[in-house]
Amino acid sequence: MSPSTPASSRSVAIRPWREGDDRALAQVLPDPQSPAQLAARALLREPGESPLTRTVVAVVDSVVVGAAAVAASPAHPTRAWVHVEVAPGERRTGVGSALLEAAVAEAAGTPLEGLGLRTRIVADDSVGGPFARAHGFTDLFTTRIVRIEAAALGGAGLDRTEDLQVIDTGSVALTQAFAGWYERVNALDPAAPMSIGQVNSRFLSEAAGAHGAALWRPVGADAGAQAPDLNKRPVTAFAVSYAQRHDEEAETPAQGGLAVGGAPVGGDDVFAATGGEDATELTVGSIDGNLEDLRSLIARLSVDTPVVVEVTDAMQTESALVDELLAAGTARVLTAYTTLVRD
Ligand SMILES: CC(C)(COP(=O)(O)OP(=O)(O)OC[C@H]1O[C@@H](n2cnc3c(N)ncnc32)[C@H](O)[C@@H]1OP(=O)(O)O)[C@@H](O)C(=O)NCCC(=O)NCCS
Repeated sequence: MSPSTPASSRSVAIRPWREGDDRALAQVLPDPQSPAQLAARALLREPGESPLTRTVVAVVDSVVVGAAAVAASPAHPTRAWVHVEVAPGERRTGVGSALLEAAVAEAAGTPLEGLGLRTRIVADDSVGGPFARAHGFTDLFTTRIVRIEAAALGGAGLDRTEDLQVIDTGSVALTQAFAGWYERVNALDPAAPMSIGQVNSRFLSEAAGAHGAALWRPVGADAGAQAPDLNKRPVTAFAVSYAQRHDEEAETPAQGGLAVGGAPVGGDDVFAATGGEDATELTVGSIDGNLEDLRSLIARLSVDTPVVVEVTDAMQTESALVDELLAAGTARVLTAYTTLVRD
């Protein structure tokens, strides 16, 4: 077929995925340009049962020109992942729409049927965004990966060193604080129920890359001379640091965003984003919405090194702090992506 063949005269066939389609797709699809695109591309894979995945491809004149997949999302099971991708030269002729419909049809009769759908695009993507919205998806939240420069928070909380507790990542207080925070910030896309042990192994264990943690446990203004024991004070903010990971095949860093914004998708390392290399990766959370406590905690952890944190729209206190630093020019967004859903 010559490239000038009008779309109307071509025959587009949609069929289930076959062996070898991954190689055929790699020939026609551009290389992913961001961690979010890489993660989405990883969904275009052989159909299987774990996680449950159904994949279809579009063929024009015997050439594979695109694919779509619907895949279960075990960590956030009320919705399934969906991704559609079409070779640049074949776009705007209805192939993407046909693929989306066919992937959903292919998932019928499996536990995926009837689930809401979730997709993730680079924030402000002027192609994927309009396509998804044209098919009934609406924006759920945006996730920003932000680098905070060393000493950006100056002396915040320096006078409150007694409120800081450096703690083992196996700590029950940390795990409980993290679990409650995680459930709250994921309310828009609920996480599967997890035991405290599962929360610890998934996000706070050595295997998850966690290697340090700190809690903010304020003495309280009216404690007087009889300040309660550090271990008995309420936790108002936490931070967990993660080892740098450069292995593309590695599980998503627990930090993640991926953790936060949806189920990890294979091989997605959010910190592959340029600019995070020399920084400490932190998951930070405010338990009670107290901006000063969060500020003091991050200030203490970023005295000498930049830190990279991830915030979603659902993290109000964390976002407020980041917005303040962005406005001051002491932080910058490394990458941002938007999660859209169709329920
Ligand atoms: C998004 C994508 C799959 C669309 O494939 P496609 O075959 O061009 O899609 P369609 O022709 O079926 O487009 C359907 C509608 O989506 C919207 N749309 C698609 N591409 C668009 C663009 N570049 N700008 C604005 N709207 C667009 C339009 O409403 C379009 O209808 P119209 O052509 O009648 O105006 C393709 O551009 C792609 O592979 N992009 C990169 C991957 C991606 O972003 N995927 C989306 C995540 S689900």
